Amino acid sequence: MKNTQGMLHQDALKGKTILVTGGGTGLGKSMGRYFMELGANLVIASRKMEVLEQTANELSQATGGQVLPVACDVRSYESIEKVIAAATDRFGSIDGLLNNAAGNFISPTERLSHRAFDTVVDIVLRGTYNFTLALGKQWIAQKQPGTILNIVTTYAWTGSGYVVPSATAKAGVLALTRSLAVEWAKYKIRSNAIAPGPFPTEGAWSRLLPSNLVEKFDPAKKNPLKRVGEHQELANLAAYLMSDYSAFVNGEVITIDGGEWLKGAGEFNHLDMVSQEMWDQLEQARKGNT
Ligand code: HXC
Ligand code: NAP
Repeated sequence: MKNTQGMLHQDALKGKTILVTGGGTGLGKSMGRYFMELGANLVIASRKMEVLEQTANELSQATGGQVLPVACDVRSYESIEKVIAAATDRFGSIDGLLNNAAGNFISPTERLSHRAFDTVVDIVLRGTYNFTLALGKQWIAQKQPGTILNIVTTYAWTGSGYVVPSATAKAGVLALTRSLAVEWAKYKIRSNAIAPGPFPTEGAWSRLLPSNLVEKFDPAKKNPLKRVGEHQELANLAAYLMSDYSAFVNGEVITIDGGEWLKGAGEFNHLDMVSQEMWDQLEQARKGNT
């Protein structure tokens, strides 16, 4: 048994239709692929139709499953209503929503224009509540259960400089997750979130951190487990939260980061830089003093 293998029963999502925003690339693509391997129909939605079509071909060939690519900008409510209509037409209904699309810049906040701030907040927060509201209304009207899974980050609760629009928006997504978990439970709609640590993707890494910055701030080096995440590790968790196996998990945010944020939070965690020899010396000194 390996951490890079699928974890769930092979029919765990059979018969379900799952909509993944930003499902053409990166983590959305990896999670979508695993949902299909577990028997789900997939809908992938983002701006670039060419990328979506390429991913759809690749995933249907790899898994033998069905995938519908639909172009949309999550910032536009009309655009996402069209996605939901197309998905419902094709598959009859939608059972799960994975709000994964995001935009982000690394920049000192004072260098950002107000339009740049809007861009990130609109993709991350407005995009998430747009899809959640439109699909939630449909589920409630049709008395159909649903599962919402939102991708946040650990700085949704710690905050972080240099990614302030993203931190602001992800914090809002987390509040949305927890609020609706209670309010919509009566409609059999569950809401959960995942906070991934560093998982290599072209979008988050190559675009966000140019190569010299990735080398300088190697995320693996500062991680307590001294590595980055494997996409399958995240896909396993996402599939569990989308499946009925997690039927009693509601309003939770699950961190999968190798202990990264806690390392930054603990006041004395930086003492892992102290060598064994120095600890020996400190111990000797203490014993000598007693
Ligand atoms: C500062 C920037 C900028 C940058 C654009 N802008 N890029 N400002 N730094 N790097 C400004 C522009 O000048 C403009 O403001 C405004 O933002 C809108 O720019 P557009 O290019 O028109 O935006 P748009 O076409 O909507 O593109 C979206 C995008 C792009 C967010 C700009 O980067 C994108 O497609 N990103 C998707 C991929 C991504 O970001 N993935 C990362 C997710 S990872 P003005 O004032 O000039 O009009 C993540 C977690 C990270 O979220 C965790 C890491 C470990
Ligand atoms: P990614 O490949 O860049 O994914 C972002 C996706 O969002 C793209 O597919 C993009 O597709 C889509 N998107 C952007 N703007 C959109 C818009 N306006 N409308 C519709 N779709 C839009 O990056 P990733 O690393 O896989 O990130 C996926 C998620 O994980 C994000 O929520 C991110 O915040 C989170 N995350 C990632 C990491 C990591 O280490 N990778 C860590 C923490 C959290 P188009 O360009 O086609 O629109």
